[in-house]
Amino acid sequence: MFHRMCLVLTVLVCLFAEAPAISPGAQDSVWLGSLDLTHLRQGWGTPRVDSSVDGKPLRLGGVTYHRGVGTHARAVLRIALHESALRFRALAGVNDSSNGAGSVRVRLLGDGRVLFASGVLRTGRGGVAIDADLTGIDTLILTATDAGDGIDHDHVDLCDARIVYSGTPPGTFTQAPEQPSILTPAPGPLPRINGARVIGCRPGHPFLHRIPCTGERPMTFTARTLPAGLTLDPSTGIIRGTAPAAGTHRVTVTAKNARGSASVELRIVSGATLALTPPMGWNHWYAHYNRVTDALMREAADVMHRTGMADAGYQYVSIDDCWMNAPRHSDPLRVGPLRDPGGNILPNKHFPDMRGLTEHIHALGLKAGIYTSPGRLTCAGFAGTLGHEEQDAKQFAAWGFDFLKYDWCSYSEVTGGNPDRAALRKPYEVMGNVLAGLDRDMVLNLCQYGMGNVWEWGAAVGGQCWRTAGDLGFELDRIYEVALQNADHRAWSGPGSWNDPDYIQIGYVGNAMTGGEPQPTPVPPQMQYAYMSLWSLMASPLFFSGDMNRLDPFTLNILCNPEVIEVDQDPLGQSAAVIPLDDETFVMVKEMEDGSKAVGFFNRDEIDRDLTAPWSALGLQGRHAIRDLWRQQDIGTSAGPLTYRVPSRGVMFVRLRPLH
Ligand code: GLA
Repeated sequence: MFHRMCLVLTVLVCLFAEAPAISPGAQDSVWLGSLDLTHLRQGWGTPRVDSSVDGKPLRLGGVTYHRGVGTHARAVLRIALHESALRFRALAGVNDSSNGAGSVRVRLLGDGRVLFASGVLRTGRGGVAIDADLTGIDTLILTATDAGDGIDHDHVDLCDARIVYSGTPPGTFTQAPEQPSILTPAPGPLPRINGARVIGCRPGHPFLHRIPCTGERPMTFTARTLPAGLTLDPSTGIIRGTAPAAGTHRVTVTAKNARGSASVELRIVSGATLALTPPMGWNHWYAHYNRVTDALMREAADVMHRTGMADAGYQYVSIDDCWMNAPRHSDPLRVGPLRDPGGNILPNKHFPDMRGLTEHIHALGLKAGIYTSPGRLTCAGFAGTLGHEEQDAKQFAAWGFDFLKYDWCSYSEVTGGNPDRAALRKPYEVMGNVLAGLDRDMVLNLCQYGMGNVWEWGAAVGGQCWRTAGDLGFELDRIYEVALQNADHRAWSGPGSWNDPDYIQIGYVGNAMTGGEPQPTPVPPQMQYAYMSLWSLMASPLFFSGDMNRLDPFTLNILCNPEVIEVDQDPLGQSAAVIPLDDETFVMVKEMEDGSKAVGFFNRDEIDRDLTAPWSALGLQGRHAIRDLWRQQDIGTSAGPLTYRVPSRGVMFVRLRPLH
């Protein structure tokens, strides 16, 4: 009797201690702020307990809360619930102090399912109550993403946030790093000719094109109807000589080895327009920044040749900033007179022989890129070209360069603040005119971060490609956003006119600001597939900017899939149309010259998702054959719709060929 009374009393005490009880049983609850928040990943600042991310009171719609967590958009927190949790409760919103500008979406994902989605929350509008059932859930993911307008001011308050559980207490954790998995088969032994099928050049100028081709070597190359003035080296597949008279010259090139042969038609289009397909290459910036040397550039060219990158279509080996002298620098070998008494630009002591360097690159059938700024100094504080535009461009041509990146940097000293469009165009017009008058083809890459809607006038001032945004290297967590903004400018994409969302920074990449040795890219493996697919669908210039000396098989598999590159290099030059599916997923569709379509299914979410695209949305009619481009496999036919399970942050990339 006494025991029974004790039991009843104990139960009563437990129930009252737990009030307000949610259901009978031994329940407990834990404040979100008392969990280990070092596992909370967020886009700005660090999480704060009982205050907003910037240390202000938690305050939603005029009400102050004393308990909770202040975080910031693009927040992700994983919590192990061990199937012991019952409910997640909180009031979520954007802190009142967020300048009227913040907007976010808060979601709870439980074992791959959406348990709660807030919709768009805006600052000053109070919070939304979350009371989600967690019964039976093993892993909970709490996310707060921006609502499509970037993360500025997205101060997220999770007021009175707590988890009610019974049994093993919840604990936060960091997801184990995703393991890279190589999807693409290694190139087969048969010859396969890759890369650009249409090549722009200007009549009478030096011509160089190495036919990119995979397959067993030795290989013999032949060409039918090669225009006079050009010769093909049968063992290397390098075409050299003088660009033919204006017009389209159709050349059938064949590569033959012991296993078989392959032929394609190359169109050599001699006229005014260069870069008829997006330029492809490597740029030193995110591998060597201000430590770049002649030896590193030569080595990079050798690696491009040796590793198969050149066989996949990569061509330009480009020096970025820091090859000139600087008025001041920590490396004395980079300090010296900026120009000689005749006003000629002087390379620094790490570049003793510019002509020799381009000859080394050209001997491999590759092309050489160089960098300068229209300003007095480059972004890294080296000699710019201001007042010497023509002299420098002629020097670059005399050295043998084929590509110029022209980086705004200190040119604001000339324009002052808020330059109008004419002022923004001016330096590029000057350089565009100079390059058009050279006796050498030099592709002009405008680098001014998208100011004045450069995509609308970049081609008119003589450019072939233009950066549409700031340096992606400092925002590799924003690849999807940068890509979607770049895709907005698709109307200006076409042969000789390319939107450039910046480099492919995978493998080992460095921090150009802080220096130090390059480290493994922060971009997770599935997202690397998405990165390369996005760039190809948008017909972006494909410049790898990681360490060429640390290329691993996974990185090469991302960079060198010829079927993916074929999408980028398609002669139509179309940038894909974006079709949103929901807040976290979208499809990109690109029309190809042969009537097929390249389609990417993208999943930005933290969980794998099934994505469905209706036939009509893809602009398709009738049955199509489907090719998985990353796996290089035919995966059947369909008359629509298409549904694929797409990994978190990743892509399913297919090409659809009409069967009728
Ligand atoms: C700017 C450019 C980068 C790089 C550096 C070099 O930041 O956007 O791509 O060229 O300058 O200083």
